[in-house]
Amino acid sequence: MPDTLRLAVVGCGSISKTHLNAIRDCDRAQLAAVVSRDEGRRTAAASAYAAPRAYGVYEEALADPDIDAIVLCTPSHLHLAQAMAALQAGKRVLVEKPMTEGYADGVTLVTEAERRGLTLMSAQCCRFLAACRKVREILQSNEIGRPLHLLYTNLSYSATHPAWYKNCRSVLMESSGSHTFDFFPWMADARPVRVYATAHNNSSDHDGDDDFVANIALENGAHAVTYTSACSRKPRKDLLVVCQKGTLVLDCWHTLRLDDRPLVEEPRDRAYQNTFDRQMAEFVDAALAGREPESSGRQVLPSLAVLDAAIESIRTGKAVNL
Ligand SMILES: NC(=O)c1ccc[n+]([C@@H]2O[C@H](COP(=O)([O-])OP(=O)(O)OC[C@H]3O[C@@H](n4cnc5c(N)ncnc54)[C@H](OP(=O)(O)O)[C@@H]3O)[C@@H](O)[C@H]2O)c1
Repeated sequence: MPDTLRLAVVGCGSISKTHLNAIRDCDRAQLAAVVSRDEGRRTAAASAYAAPRAYGVYEEALADPDIDAIVLCTPSHLHLAQAMAALQAGKRVLVEKPMTEGYADGVTLVTEAERRGLTLMSAQCCRFLAACRKVREILQSNEIGRPLHLLYTNLSYSATHPAWYKNCRSVLMESSGSHTFDFFPWMADARPVRVYATAHNNSSDHDGDDDFVANIALENGAHAVTYTSACSRKPRKDLLVVCQKGTLVLDCWHTLRLDDRPLVEEPRDRAYQNTFDRQMAEFVDAALAGREPESSGRQVLPSLAVLDAAIESIRTGKAVNL
């Protein structure tokens, strides 16, 4: 078994830096190349992270035999075609979330990866947050009874969005929703069975929906509600998990309390990067060992079914059974 995985980071936009930091700090990862269509961005990234090669054309990186794995940091609507091309070139793939824009495309990708025996992992980073992992551990132990409600609010404000957002099926559901659609069932270890969602446009600054609510019924009887607003001048990310014998409160991702008792406290400025470091370590270890990673393509397929159902529910105004 080789002891180092040689990775290329594709797309030098906002999330790529967090992955590049994670590769730099992972003992068994080696940055082999960066890929950007923009010469200035690829030169800057290659220089900042000491990448030996910088490609302007994705296909050239795929033809490079000294690259073992691709980290796709590109817009969601490109993931299916780019991840498929990487698998067909024999590369392992870590793809930003959502893995694809819907369930059927996800199945296509997973089928190809499994047929070729190549690691396919979706960067559902919340699965690697210390506080989220602790919530899952507590729910699995049944120490505070079963979960009744999981309530997540994600409040933010942005006047402008990347131009590629117009190509998304649903911007908010692919950005914020793709986290909760995945981590609710994962945390509660329960299959999603029904989804009801609404979405609105509340600000003339935005084209299209700028808030949504989705209510996801889980097979264990819990209800998971996620509210995302891009219209709030007060940014917050909060999760409440109300269980029979206690309430878990996760504050902006970095602190977790059980009622008033602190359980996890990560420094606010490290919590997010720590998450990506754990995620990269898992991808590298799984790819080198040839084992299924946590957050594998197959494991995240149910979240893509929830994404499809939420979009369908908004369109029809009705709950959708899974
Ligand atoms: N896990 C998380 O918490 C998290 C957070 C943010 C985003 N994400 C995900 O990461 C992915 C990228 O998001 P981002 O916020 O990094 O976006 P971004 O800043 O716009 O960067 C995307 C990059 O993709 C590249 N690209 C290649 N083909 C493109 C095309 N046809 N149109 C536009 N860009 C193209 C561009 O890089 P070059 O110009 O360098 O080629 C661009 O900079 C999305 O899937 C998003 O959902 C995840």
